[in-house]
Amino acid sequence: MKLSFQSRKPTAVEADVLVTFIHQSEPERSRDQEGLVNLFGEGAIPPLSIRDFAGKENETALVYVSEGRRHRRLLLAGLGEQRQPSPERYRRSAAVAAKKAKSLKAASMLFILPLLKKAAEDVIMALGEGALLGLYRFDKYVSKQKEEEKRLSEIIFASEDKKIAAAAKAALHRAQIIAEAVILARDLANAPGNEIYPETLAEVAVQSGKKAGYKVNVLNEKEIEKLGMGGIMGVSQGSTRPPRFLILEYGRPSKKTVVLVGKGVTFDTGGISIKPSANMSEMKMDMSGGAAVIGALEAVSRLKLPVHVIGLIPAVENMPSGNSIRPGDILRHYNGKTSEVDNTDAEGRLILADALGYAERYKPAAVIDLATLTGACVVALGHHATGMMGNDAGLMKRLKDAGEATYERVWELPLFDEYERLIKSDVADVKNVGGRWAGAITAGWFLRKFIGNYKWIHLDIAGTAILEENGEYNQKGGSGVGVRLLTEFLRHWK
Ligand code: BES
Ligand code: MN
Ligand code: ZN
Repeated sequence: MKLSFQSRKPTAVEADVLVTFIHQSEPERSRDQEGLVNLFGEGAIPPLSIRDFAGKENETALVYVSEGRRHRRLLLAGLGEQRQPSPERYRRSAAVAAKKAKSLKAASMLFILPLLKKAAEDVIMALGEGALLGLYRFDKYVSKQKEEEKRLSEIIFASEDKKIAAAAKAALHRAQIIAEAVILARDLANAPGNEIYPETLAEVAVQSGKKAGYKVNVLNEKEIEKLGMGGIMGVSQGSTRPPRFLILEYGRPSKKTVVLVGKGVTFDTGGISIKPSANMSEMKMDMSGGAAVIGALEAVSRLKLPVHVIGLIPAVENMPSGNSIRPGDILRHYNGKTSEVDNTDAEGRLILADALGYAERYKPAAVIDLATLTGACVVALGHHATGMMGNDAGLMKRLKDAGEATYERVWELPLFDEYERLIKSDVADVKNVGGRWAGAITAGWFLRKFIGNYKWIHLDIAGTAILEENGEYNQKGGSGVGVRLLTEFLRHWK
């Protein structure tokens, strides 16, 4: 799907469906409809009853505009009541409109840009992103696809305004790259465990690096063992699939290096502490943190941002077998510290411990890890906020701002000292579970035991990466969360 821009009067553009965005307004003609009259001429658009279309959030109506003898389809897309809708409102409306145009079997669609006075770039970016993400489906394994479902291939934006043209070109370039990176992350998450396992996850990263222009180094099990990464070796030993440790690098070393760490459990059965079978299939998405890191590196690299970013992804499959780790086993991690495995289903933290230790090599200015780490975080925040923990308020503020801008919102959970003793072990340096309460926080504390001397943020994306319902531009399944958040964060990183 391609986003394109044409510097001309929207009515001069050929497209199967024209789309215009309209505020909810009084029964009499709103300013927006006046705009349409200017565009199409008096009497070209039939008067529409407020009962048929009021411009409510996500409401749509199809009308026909007459241009001489020709009639064209014009889709009205509601924006809701706000006079100055947020980018998120545009993102959602664009998604709804794009899905509607697809259902109308359109091959091309034109977005008539609203009369924007400020933040034109953010609004256009949101429109492009919303349309591309709204149209996403994970359907490559569905043999018989309806022909028309594949037709829509171009979304055209048009305006005669020179200022809008400049903003639009920049915004659509960014939207295209970022949406494609989100889609890569969604495809990886949604791919089943028999397709994506540590070796194939590594292969996808290598291909992405080649395409986008960043380096990928893949360590195999021998190299992982030699480095003393006992968490990765331990968790993966129950699986016939060998582990991999992915090292991604974009840009030149600097004093402001950012390391991104992503949990890459390609399937999480729980191991010997096996999970119940209901919904276990969702655990094919337990590598969503890793997918977000690959997506972010691809986006940052294609956007050529002036930053130095390292991506670290410990990739394993967590399986029960005669070779699995047992409850009670003790592992030694990369930084020399030991952990008691009280529950083999708390595996994410065991592999992240090695990666967080390894991150110290880069003397990073910031380390951010992303992981579908705990069901407890889903209990606390549901699917609308990522749990954030960390050791630096300033860094967390920056990430929170990126979360507001992208609507991939993060919410801080406290790492108070009092929680630390919940993961005290009698036999090792730390225990991998903390009991019934504050499960997201005790997981965060476990990770904290393994960080180096750097500013660090842990993002628990268990609720936001794996969705149970369709939204406007999100579908049930993998959301690709983190890609837009991290790219926005890195765009402002100095
Ligand atoms: N991958 C799961 C966490 C998870 C659960 C993510 C539901 C998304 C949806 C993780 O490895 C896990 O199993 N965590 C355990 C930890 C517990 C054993 C301390 C959990 O949350 O139950
Ligand atoms: Mn688990
Ligand atoms: Zn897991």
